[in-house]
Amino acid sequence: MNAPASPADTLRTTLADVLAGLPPTQAAGAVDRLIAAYRGATPTDVPILRDRADVAAYAAYRMPATFEAVRSALAAFADAVPGWAPGSHVDLGGGTGAATWAVTATWEGTRPVTVLDWAEPALALGREIAAANPALADARWQRARIGSGLTVDHTDLVTVSYVLNELSEADRAALVDAATAAQTVVIVEAGTPAGYARVIEARDRLIRAGFRVAAPCPHSTACPIQPGTDWCHFSARVGRSSLHRQVKGGSLAYEDEKFAYVAATRLPAEPAAARVIRRPQIRKGQVLLDLCEVDERLHRTTVTKRHGDLYKAARDTDWGDAWPPRDRMP
Ligand SMILES: C[S@@+](CC[C@H](N)C(=O)[O-])C[C@H]1O[C@@H](n2cnc3c(N)ncnc32)[C@H](O)[C@@H]1O
Repeated sequence: MNAPASPADTLRTTLADVLAGLPPTQAAGAVDRLIAAYRGATPTDVPILRDRADVAAYAAYRMPATFEAVRSALAAFADAVPGWAPGSHVDLGGGTGAATWAVTATWEGTRPVTVLDWAEPALALGREIAAANPALADARWQRARIGSGLTVDHTDLVTVSYVLNELSEADRAALVDAATAAQTVVIVEAGTPAGYARVIEARDRLIRAGFRVAAPCPHSTACPIQPGTDWCHFSARVGRSSLHRQVKGGSLAYEDEKFAYVAATRLPAEPAAARVIRRPQIRKGQVLLDLCEVDERLHRTTVTKRHGDLYKAARDTDWGDAWPPRDRMP
């Protein structure tokens, strides 16, 4: 018997079907327009995703990447709360629902899921795509404007993926305040200096509301990065779709999606002892790891062959991983 397809595979084939329903030039044109809109001065007063062509293009072009970024963030969070799984989930500014797919790829089973967004065409396509994922069969797709009037009923998990960038400062604050109705809040943004700054702003607000950071930071005190000098971000590998190749050209089979995130919770969590914050440098007989550590500092450590098993672990360690691996914690 064949193993059931993973949510990632199902998402990919479902998006390919959506795209197949659009004339290729229309899809590429819509992607060009969206890229321009997202580069332009945001926030906007009206939804950027206006119609089905916009939304289908957005979904085919961006959803695999936002899915992988959110999945990476959720995996780091899950690592800090072993044995826990959300009993309910609300996706704020959820659009076509990439984060809902990432949640189903992280934790088995079903749970009540609500997606809130102000763009009706995005919700409609999200509902259509979700029909391929049994864990999202009962998801509710609801129109809502993120702003001072937003309230969220108590829920185990709130996700906010690639949304802060589209909001004014006041609406970002309103969103984070509404999200504090949840037990756990996971926020993901583009891995740019601006995306990182928005994540830090939300992180500070969540901590003031009584949350603790479970990932990526090993602590809930101030980020040791001096504003403007650097930015904390990570990378998730994403297979490129035919639309990617059509729009961006080239023949690379994958892209690396850079993202910044924070996972904060009221649950008892065990954050990593340290987090690898850059791609490890592997040299002859040694691995250089750039770490963010518990005592609020950034520190480079060199692991050599003399460290035995730890050296082997360092060679397998990736950007974004906890260090040392949990099974090697003293
Ligand atoms: C870049 S998309 C991200 C969608 C989805 N979270 C993902 O990761 O693929 C941003 C989403 O935020 C929604 N959005 C932006 N401003 C909003 C607002 N004020 N109220 C509700 N939704 C909003 C947009 O309609 C869009 O679906």
